[in-house]
Amino acid sequence: MAGILLIGFMGAGKSTIGRQLAAELARPFIDLDQMIESEIGMSISAYFETAGEAAFRKAETQALAKALTGDEVVACGGGIVLKEQNRSLLKNHPTVIYLKADPDQLYQRIVQDQINKRPLADDKTASEVREILQPRLPLYEEAAVIQVDTTGKEPVAIVTEIVERLAKQ
Ligand code: S3P
Repeated sequence: MAGILLIGFMGAGKSTIGRQLAAELARPFIDLDQMIESEIGMSISAYFETAGEAAFRKAETQALAKALTGDEVVACGGGIVLKEQNRSLLKNHPTVIYLKADPDQLYQRIVQDQINKRPLADDKTASEVREILQPRLPLYEEAAVIQVDTTGKEPVAIVTEIVERLAKQ
């Protein structure tokens, strides 16, 4: 049984939905950012500051390759689609789900998130965040086999929709 990968921009709800989806399907859950943090021994923000984004992206690719071997529900970081190597790993995987949302809602969720520190988005304006989002949109769409719009929906409704879509695959 192949793992189920959730992709999408920061604030799309990948971790929240991923946890609930994993519980619903009785599968283990992996948060790729947390997996990377335990590998590198520090927070992602600290790693961006000390080692730089390129080093983080390298660790991210290694974590993705590892996560793809299991049957877990995996919440990927929002930048997973940036590297061609990652995109080709995702393209060859049968169950990649893109959680999409309205840019304003993504921005609100990022701003309101007190737990996740996001070096690329914290302290950015709504239009700066939109500029980061825009070139990524086609990459998320190309990498995913299922797209789910989460705008204005409660997690339980999103999980139900994903389970139904997976059953039809
Ligand atoms: C990033 C998204 C973050 C994290 C890192 C970079 C990005 O994950 O991987 O800060 O480039 O979009 P979330 O999407 O879980 O916030």
